[in-house]
Amino acid sequence: MKRNRPNKKRITQNNMSSNNDNNNRMAMPRIGFGTFFSDENNMKKIKNAIDESFEIGYNAYDCAEMYQSTKAVGERIGTKPRELLWITSKLIGIPNDTDDNYTILKKRVEDHLEQLGGLKYVDLLLIHFPGEKKIDLGGAPEKVKEDATFQWFDENIDQGWKNMVRLRKDGLCRNIGISNFYQKHLDRLLKCPSVDITKEENNMPFANEIYVDPTHPEFNFVEYMQSLKIKVIAYRSLAFLPVIQMASQMGDVTYSKLDALKEEEGHKSIHETIIKWLISRDIYVLVKSTSKDHLSANYSAVADTDDATKAMNYDKQIFGPSEMVLMCGGTDEYADVFKSISLEKE
Ligand SMILES: NC(=O)c1ccc[n+]([C@@H]2O[C@H](COP(=O)([O-])OP(=O)(O)OC[C@H]3O[C@@H](n4cnc5c(N)ncnc54)[C@H](OP(=O)(O)O)[C@@H]3O)[C@@H](O)[C@H]2O)c1
Repeated sequence: MKRNRPNKKRITQNNMSSNNDNNNRMAMPRIGFGTFFSDENNMKKIKNAIDESFEIGYNAYDCAEMYQSTKAVGERIGTKPRELLWITSKLIGIPNDTDDNYTILKKRVEDHLEQLGGLKYVDLLLIHFPGEKKIDLGGAPEKVKEDATFQWFDENIDQGWKNMVRLRKDGLCRNIGISNFYQKHLDRLLKCPSVDITKEENNMPFANEIYVDPTHPEFNFVEYMQSLKIKVIAYRSLAFLPVIQMASQMGDVTYSKLDALKEEEGHKSIHETIIKWLISRDIYVLVKSTSKDHLSANYSAVADTDDATKAMNYDKQIFGPSEMVLMCGGTDEYADVFKSISLEKE
């Protein structure tokens, strides 16, 4: 089988400690290629983008059990040297299978790994969202809100996290984590019997993958997680930039403030500014693109940041909620749902 060879230095952070990282081979790369593609008819384009990204230097790929691109992505990552890759994937909902049914869950994960190019393990396995597997994350956000109750979460997370720990011990993943968990979800997770912060193998989540963009900066929550040594992975950080720009024509100031910061920092684009803003906050970044130029530019934005946590001087007021951007549809509605559930009073 033909194997692609990397031609550039790959971005990793080998000096960073982690919570339950039993993978001493590679630390999580700063930038990951997002594989959430909904266009089933364009798998050729996706496969090309995977190959091109790898040639540019990417080696981290963010996948999910529910992504329609899984098979196409698996076909391409399966041709790359496994030891050079960092693969993250996400299980649909909380895996609350009973102890007696654990083998069913294990088989489900093994089948997913098979689809992902016949992998033996993923580097990071996440719970995709704090709710039941049957919840349709592509459906109406109102329905997701109705179904993803905190009560159900509270009753099922102990078993769900116990299973995640077991999957890691069984070698199907190197690290375990969460996605779309907000403050109340996380605080409850940390009370699971399988988590013990006093032990070396504390079973804390390695990372939380959440929605972070200019109008959802999550300053406090990100700092809180980082204080617990939970890595923060940002998704959809660029996706709503066209909406933010559109809102500027209606008087919203977010875009012009971002543009001014771009000029001050001497960046080539606002995309670069956003990526560097995240890195400067010690956040890990996911970006998706099918354009070779964009893939290269995004990768360079990270590679150019010689000190990944280098401070960027900016006025925090640039970032934050905007009514107008929200009105124009510039938000991830599912993330908003999970956040609102976390904010509900008991
Ligand atoms: N955990 C979760 O629940 C969750 C939810 C959503 C997403 N995710 C993950 O996060 C990944 C990223 O999110 P996303 O795919 O929604 O959005 P994104 O990566 O934030 O934005 C993608 C859009 O930005 C454009 N773009 C990228 N780089 C650009 C550049 N340098 N200049 C101009 N335009 C640029 C792309 O267009 P071009 O193709 O033209 O470049 C595309 O339209 C997903 O693929 C998925 O892996 C996770």
